[in-house]
Parts: sequence; structure tokens; C-alpha cells
Amino acid sequence: MTILGIETSCDETAAAVVEDGTRIASNVVASSQAMHAKYGGIIPDQAAREQVKSIIPVIKEALVADVDAIAVTVGPGLIGSLLVGVETAKTLSLALNKPIIPVNHLVGHIYANFILSEVEGSRPPEFHAIVLLVSGGHTELILMKDHGKFKPLGNTRDDAAGECFDKCARLLDLGYPGGPAVEAAASKLKVKSERLKIKLPRPMMNDDSFDFSFSGLKTAVANEVKKTNQLSSSPANLLAYKLQEAVTDVLVSKTLKAAEKYSPKSILLAGGVAANLRLREKLNKAVSSQQLAVSVHIPPINLCTDNAAYIASAAFFNYHPVPWEKINADPSLDF
Ligand code: KG4
Ligand code: ZN
Repeated sequence: MTILGIETSCDETAAAVVEDGTRIASNVVASSQAMHAKYGGIIPDQAAREQVKSIIPVIKEALVADVDAIAVTVGPGLIGSLLVGVETAKTLSLALNKPIIPVNHLVGHIYANFILSEVEGSRPPEFHAIVLLVSGGHTELILMKDHGKFKPLGNTRDDAAGECFDKCARLLDLGYPGGPAVEAAASKLKVKSERLKIKLPRPMMNDDSFDFSFSGLKTAVANEVKKTNQLSSSPANLLAYKLQEAVTDVLVSKTLKAAEKYSPKSILLAGGVAANLRLREKLNKAVSSQQLAVSVHIPPINLCTDNAAYIASAAFFNYHPVPWEKINADPSLDF
């Protein structure tokens, strides 16, 4: 089955055609991120206008094959942005007489792990799986028992991991979006032992829950920034490095704790923050050093950040078409 996926939850306008949920025929993403970078954060109204401009050209470019169904992100996300994709998908469904499948954006992110790479021997994840879903608005540990069967184990009590990167990047004057900016700054650090004495907290790392908290880390970074009168690039790089170490330590440690408790066959990483190379490296290292009998799945970087291929994949593996009249955008859709 060939599915056209449409994703417009935030500042990416994306369309993709995916066969049987695993093979990408096309994957087109137009982003208005550069425009928002000027303002240090996303402007919802502008993002929606950009969605309107891009949606038809993006779908046109993605439509490289006849499709059997249309999948669309219905939430969570920015209402103005979501409406553009949802209403376009409904119109296409009506005009082409194709079934339409509403997809939760967060579930979509997870399905980036089910798209098979060209790499020889690439295998789909086996159940059950522990999922670490880390995006701009969400930080969740989930036990995935089967397709569509999710048991949330824990989430953030305040800021999400991506949000923490974004807010700290603003404090450090590193630009938007914060995650890639923090990663780039951290990699520029020239180690000076004197400076490495700064210590940032690892909030909730050793408590009994699978919950997270990142707002204290942002406060700790703000305090360090205040101590430095003039933030030269060197302390900014150092704090970016320290921040990345603290966030990734907490994420990996809680994921391993969940894996020890539930003995899954797979660990899946998902969401925009999964693009972080340090997080990817630390998770792989931790699993091999603990000698856990579990396979780690990490999507290629372009499938971690927002795209429509994983929306089409999620719709294939959870094929529940809904009459188009009943489909509505829901900005605060839960997991
Ligand atoms: O999943 P996503 O693209 O959009 C949402 O659904 O939220 O995630 C965006 C988040 C942003 O907070 C961004 O700063 C973060 O993912 N991010 C990263 C990296 N690339 C994107 N965080 C850390 N390292 C990265 N390389
Ligand atoms: Zn996302």
C-alpha cells in the first residue's frame, strides 16, 4: 500500500510518499525555520502563512506515484499550521476519493524507526520496545508493546529536553533552533581544565520515577551566564558543552533504567533531539557497556526532525481511516 503523508504541525511543510510503511518513494520538506531564526523563536502566525505558501508545491513535488490513501498530522502543534495540512488533506481525500488517516505527530515521530534504510541488514524493531521520544515540546519514555499499543512510563514535569536546549541557546546567544546550535557550540570547545570546573545539575536522574525535569537546568545555565559579565564565545561553548552533557546523561540514564526494568527487545530513539550526535553516541555506548540484549534503533538525522515520511509510516501500521468530515486539527492532542 502506498500512502501520501502530510505534516504541517510547526514550521515545516512536509509531504512524502511511503510504500508499505517502510520504503520512501519521496520525502519533501520546506522549512520556514530560517525566517524565525531572525526573531530567536517561532512566530505562529508567520509559520501558518508560510505553510499556506508551501503546501501545494510541496505535495506536488512529493507525488511521484499513485497513492492508495492520505495520512495527515492532526496534532499536537500550532493551530494555524495544523489547519493548513488538515484542510488540504481533507480536500484531497474528497476530490480523489481516497481514504484519510489522522495521525498523532508524536506517534509519527516513533515510526521514523520503522522506515528501513538502504543499508544492508537494516531490520524493523521488535516488540516490546522502550521508546525515548524527545522533541521540542515533549520528553516521554514509553513502553511500546505492539503497533499502536503504548504505555507511557514517564514524561517531563516542566520543560521538554528540546525546549531546554532552545531556551538555553537563547541565554547563550547561540540562535534558533537551539538544539543544533548547542551541539555546534559544544563541538567547538577547546578544553581548558580551569573552566571545566563548572558543574550543571542532572535533575531527577537518580530518582525512582521515569519522569524528567529540565527547567532547573535552564536556571543553572542562566546563573552561570550572569556570573560571566561579557559572554565571550569561549564560555558560551563551554556552557553549551556542559548543558549537552547534562541533558544527555539524564536521558540515557532513565532510558537504561526503563530497559533494565522492562527487558525490551528494542530501544527506539525518536523526535528532533534524537538528531543530537552526543545523545546517539551515549545511548549506544551505555547499552553495549551494560551488555543488554537489546537492539538500539536510531533513525537517520533527516527522519528525526519533522517530516511526512514517518506520518505515512504510522498510518500504514495503524490503518484506521476516518470519514473526512470527522477529522479536525487538535493543537493539544495528547500522546
Ligand atoms: O521533533 P521536532 O523537530 O519538532 C517538534 O515536534 O517539537 O523537535 C524540535 C526540537 C527543537 O527543540 C530542536 O532544538 C531540537 O529538536 N533539536 C535538537 C537537534 N536538532 C533538533 N536538539 C539537540 N541536538 C540536535 N542536533
Ligand atoms: Zn516533531
